[in-house]
Amino acid sequence: MRDPAAFGPTTTTDEVLDDIDLTGRVALVTGGSSGLGRETARALAARGAEVILTARDVPKGEAVAADIRAATGAAVSVQDLELGSLASIRRFAERLLAAHPRIDLLVANAGVMACPYARTSDGFEMQFGSNHLGHFLAVCSLAPALLRSGAARVVSLSSRGHHIAPVDFDDLGFERRPYDKWQAYGQAKTANVLFAVGLERRLGARGVHALAVHPGAIVTELGRHLQAEDMEYLRSRARGMQFKTVEQGAATSCFAATAPELAGRGGLYLEDCHVAAIDDAPEAPEGVKSYALDPANAERLWEVSERLVGERFAFA
Ligand SMILES: NC(=O)c1ccc[n+]([C@@H]2O[C@H](COP(=O)([O-])OP(=O)(O)OC[C@H]3O[C@@H](n4cnc5c(N)ncnc54)[C@H](OP(=O)(O)O)[C@@H]3O)[C@@H](O)[C@H]2O)c1
Repeated sequence: MRDPAAFGPTTTTDEVLDDIDLTGRVALVTGGSSGLGRETARALAARGAEVILTARDVPKGEAVAADIRAATGAAVSVQDLELGSLASIRRFAERLLAAHPRIDLLVANAGVMACPYARTSDGFEMQFGSNHLGHFLAVCSLAPALLRSGAARVVSLSSRGHHIAPVDFDDLGFERRPYDKWQAYGQAKTANVLFAVGLERRLGARGVHALAVHPGAIVTELGRHLQAEDMEYLRSRARGMQFKTVEQGAATSCFAATAPELAGRGGLYLEDCHVAAIDDAPEAPEGVKSYALDPANAERLWEVSERLVGERFAFA
């Protein structure tokens, strides 16, 4: 029996979704080829949702989709999406809108962490460019399908890594300072929260609610770029944090996407299946930084993101 008051760090996807019927709902999960996205897609499919997962490596995504179909019997399909290319995102959005005029749940999950300096095909620093700008363009382009739902949710995968850095509006791309892979990750993950705040302001009253989540610390392919010294750095920041299983890690995404308790709410940051409180103490082990929920920062990020992707979104 589902008991939201008892939810916490060890709660799993299946526990969060117990008693939730997603039959007839259409869910899109970006980065469904691995880790938390794969488990989120599986768990939503297991409750009856039709699931579309995106993959930049389509055969990898198709193998995951086949496993989920076999395990759940749900309709699961794959869409090609490279978030480091505005052209790929626009092609994806066009295909998706043609095939799926309505989307009810969108989990903007794909991400890269602490990679060596690289640029997207449009010249943006990779972590800001793919984790934030890519999802900004993808989600905004899919707004017509979200608005058709009448009760849609957008879940933006942020991280406690947002504690590392706010968005540096004067140097988004590390052109005036040396590249620091952790500052870049922190900036991108702060942007993921600010995007939820900005989207909520624009679409909340029209039934599309946006939430950001920190999933916890989970061993996935996200660590592909980590060196030995990075593990030391992460341990120093972890402050007693326990690792979660993938099922526990994806639970907060599934909670944000479906919990009846969150109906009509948005512009929030969740961790451990609860709405997190603001905590600006420098060593705070939990909570959300006020700079990540700040409406003025959210507006500034929205404007610069529109300029960078070269498109304004009126959401008519
Ligand atoms: N794991 C954690 O401890 C943790 C903690 C805090 C936040 N998060 C966040 O949770 C999300 C999921 O992470 P995860 O742990 O599940 O990592 P993961 O196993 O590496 O999965 C990331 C997914 O994103 C996809 N992806 C990466 N870059 C992409 C791009 N440029 N275009 C399209 N797809 C791209 C990957 O595709 P490929 O399969 O092709 O690589 C993969 O499907 C991320 O946003 C991450 O920042 C994770």
